Amino acid sequence: MCGIFAYLNFKVSRERSYILQLLFNGLRRLEYRGYDSAGISIDYSHEATTVPLVFRQEGNIENLVKSVYQEVGATNLNLEESFSTHAGIAHTRWATHGEPAPRNSHPQTSDPDNEFLVVHNGVITNYEVLKETLVRHGFTFESETDTEVIPKLAKFIFDNANEEGDKSMAFSQVVLEVMRHLEGAYALIFKSRHYPNELIACKRGSPLLLGVKELTEQNSDGASFNGVTYLSSNGQPKEFFFSSDASALVEHTKKVLMIEDGEVVHLKDGGASIFKFNHIKGKHGGTLTRLPSIERALSFLEMEVEQINKGKYEHYMQKEIHEQPESLTTSMRGRLLRGGSCKAKSVLLGGLKDHLKTIRRSRRIVFIGCGTSYNAALASRPILEELSGIPVTMEIASDLVDRQGPIYREDTTVFVSQSGETADTLLALEYALENGALCVGITNTVGSAIARNTHCGVHVNAGCEIGVASTKAYTSQIVVMVMLALAIGGDTLSSQGRRGAIIDGLFELPSKVKEVLKLDEEMKDLAKLLIAEQSLLVFGRGYNYATALEGALKVKEVALMHSEGMLAGEMKHGPLALVDETLPIVVIATRDSCFSKQQSVIQQLHARKGRLIVLCTKGDAASVSVSGSCRVIEVPQVEDCLQPVINIVPLQLLAYHLTVLRGYNVDQPRNLAKSVTTQ
Ligand code: F6R
Repeated sequence: MCGIFAYLNFKVSRERSYILQLLFNGLRRLEYRGYDSAGISIDYSHEATTVPLVFRQEGNIENLVKSVYQEVGATNLNLEESFSTHAGIAHTRWATHGEPAPRNSHPQTSDPDNEFLVVHNGVITNYEVLKETLVRHGFTFESETDTEVIPKLAKFIFDNANEEGDKSMAFSQVVLEVMRHLEGAYALIFKSRHYPNELIACKRGSPLLLGVKELTEQNSDGASFNGVTYLSSNGQPKEFFFSSDASALVEHTKKVLMIEDGEVVHLKDGGASIFKFNHIKGKHGGTLTRLPSIERALSFLEMEVEQINKGKYEHYMQKEIHEQPESLTTSMRGRLLRGGSCKAKSVLLGGLKDHLKTIRRSRRIVFIGCGTSYNAALASRPILEELSGIPVTMEIASDLVDRQGPIYREDTTVFVSQSGETADTLLALEYALENGALCVGITNTVGSAIARNTHCGVHVNAGCEIGVASTKAYTSQIVVMVMLALAIGGDTLSSQGRRGAIIDGLFELPSKVKEVLKLDEEMKDLAKLLIAEQSLLVFGRGYNYATALEGALKVKEVALMHSEGMLAGEMKHGPLALVDETLPIVVIATRDSCFSKQQSVIQQLHARKGRLIVLCTKGDAASVSVSGSCRVIEVPQVEDCLQPVINIVPLQLLAYHLTVLRGYNVDQPRNLAKSVTTQ
């Protein structure tokens, strides 16, 4: 939750208006991570000193932009003032401690003079103890946030060092001292009036990247990059960026450093010094031991600016639904081999090849995830059980951790996560590692914590997903897990026909999804019918129990309409009592081994005058609509284990249109944010 962004230009002349715009744009890119409130800090030069100014506002980024320009106008702050070096920080917030309000927005500050300023993503779990101590030392607090202790602690440490005669304490030393006292998860960026034109970033648990753009002396407009791969201070003009994720960096640079837990990055004089600390677990969250400064190579971002723009679409969710034929193709690229005969059909998952033997010998496979990622795993469970013959169990990450459920050395645990940063899933991963299980990661974010901390894994490669409601990542996750099932399952003579059919089905899937997307208008019409409903039920079973859960999750999270996905086999055991002629019910009854059972569910619901919408296979309208009384959505048939990919698309479209028609914000649903990095 929360997005943090910072910009430091070194020996590149930039006007204040440029710096402001750059910070605002960074926040716009990160807004999907949190949109309750926002803030920035930039500098003001006054009588040869640099004074950090802070602007904070409740609401979305545009509210902040408006209020900053109003203040700039009111104070006659010169927008054209140029800085050859300048450090600015910015934050967009998803509230955890304290309501959305300017005083609770970031940057949080040490004092009215803004001696130390901090933007923070994460949660400081011991903030109450720190606050008590600081209050005893005379500090007063303005906000209800956990973050405010951090700049105040920095000031306390700085003042003490000065009183004791240490006038030359480096900024990095102050931050290291602060880190020693913090427990919890954080990515932090520090700015201080005592250290003008310097920035410090550090992280533990929450994601943070550094982007570097080196400008040649001849060409300081950013057009050319001279190929520097180390972060040395070589006196060349440079621009540095810190960001919670790559989406805010890619338009500036593709040269990035994924900052690791325990690292502190100090930007000063055109260089970046990186310190590494090993965190020793102890009674009070541990102590930090300083390791030598290190040099790290930068990596190259495999992302294009177009991926993070809406293009011809009005909303990211709409774009991401419609780009599923392409995202599925990318997820499969280079991983499926299809020769002339059945035998030549196979799957190649490079990230798993050294671990397949161990996985095949496991006592059980445990899928672990949250929300949509959990649902994707659930959709893939039957085919993994069928092809591997290994029992597969499902765990919601937070529930596994709450129960401390049994995980053994002989287990293979599979962690599914779009962001690769979800706190609940990360905690479950830590727990599985402690218990000695083999840990496999399935994530859509290269370099994410789950990708880094698992033993092996598969990248989903669905491309950057910005809409808070996950859509294209869901279908690509299913496809990746079907490929995982094919990779784990033995290529026996008896299974060759089935395996070949699935691989053929995978090849055809993008074009079938394209076909389903033609239902867009039909789903819009259905949304018009349902616009004023209070509630929607979705019944599925077998492969499509997950589709029922996922369809209902989409409707509730974006259209803000109560919706429940239910196992159709459980209908008679309670939910049937809800059925009357008013409550709309979607029944998923596409052709697979559960089809006849779903036909009888339809009969039973019809007998109770249920208001049915049936999702069925093309050509089946007559056999599922009892006396023509149901509304029917027809979709193409594919191999049963791939049908959830097809079936979810109309429900994604329905959720999208319901949201737009009901007048809600599709990409920023109320109270939610993408990447849930807090427990
Ligand atoms: C729903 C949605 C969430 C996420 C969940 C896990 O549309 O996006 O339910 O699926 O928060 O997030 P990841 O997959 O990033 O671990």
